[in-house]
Amino acid sequence: MLVAGNWKMHTDREEAIRLAEAVVAEVGDPGSVQVAVCPPFVNLEVVRQIIEGTPIRLGAQNMHYEEAGAYTGEVSAPMLKSVGCRYVILGHSERRQYFGETDEGVNRKIKRALQYELIPIVCVGETLEERQAGQAAAVVERQVRAALDGVALHSAEALVIAYEPVWAIGTGHTATPEQAQEMHALIRRLLIDRYGEAIGRALHILYGGSVKPGNAADLFAQPDVDGGLIGGASLKAADFAAIVRAAH
Ligand code: G3H
Repeated sequence: MLVAGNWKMHTDREEAIRLAEAVVAEVGDPGSVQVAVCPPFVNLEVVRQIIEGTPIRLGAQNMHYEEAGAYTGEVSAPMLKSVGCRYVILGHSERRQYFGETDEGVNRKIKRALQYELIPIVCVGETLEERQAGQAAAVVERQVRAALDGVALHSAEALVIAYEPVWAIGTGHTATPEQAQEMHALIRRLLIDRYGEAIGRALHILYGGSVKPGNAADLFAQPDVDGGLIGGASLKAADFAAIVRAAH
C-alpha cells in the first residue's frame, strides 16, 4: 500500500515546517505502508530536511518534460531529483483542467521522470459529465493508454497510477468502494495487458477523491485499490495519519 499526500497550493514555509513535523510525529512507524508527502516546489527542501531519516518520502506535484532550457517558471526532473524527490505527481486533473495538460504532454513527462528514476504518480479520471454520459471507462482507458504509450517498465516500483474521478476531488462526494474497484479493475487489466501478469498485478493503483479517515478503510479493502492520493485530508496531520493506519 502507498498513501501520498498532495498538499496542492497550500502551505507557506512556516506552515510546511509545522505540517511536516506533525506528519512525522503522527504517522510514526507506518510498517509496510509506504508514505509520501508532496509539498509545493518552494517547500520541498525544507520538508526534505524534516523527513530525512524517517520512513516518509518526498514528492513533487508537477515537472516539465524537458531536462533544462528557456522555460520560464518551470521545474525539471533533475532539479526534483537533486532536492531528494522520490515521486512526482503527473497529469493531475487540476493541471489538465486549468493548465491545458494533454495526454501527450503527460506521456512525455512520464518518460523524462523515469529517466531520472523519479516515480511518476500518473493521475487519470473522468469528469461528472463524462460519467453521466456513460463514458467513464472509455475516458480512463484512453488516458491510461496514452500516458503509457512507449513507456517501458522494468519494475512494478517504477510507476504508480492514481484513479481520481474529477467529480470526487475536493467535493466530499467520494466514489463508493464498488465504483472505485470497478475502475481499478479496468486499469489493472490494461496494465496486465501492457506489462504482463507479474508487473501488471504488482503496480500500485491509488484512489484519490475526498478520501477521509472515515471512508479510507472501505476503499483500501477493495482488491485493486493499493492506497490513496490524499488532498484536503493530507493538510491535517492527524487525519493523514489515520488514513495511513487504514491502509494497514
Ligand atoms: O491529489 C489529490 C486529489 O486531487 C484528491 O483531493 O482529497 O481534496 O479530494 P481531495
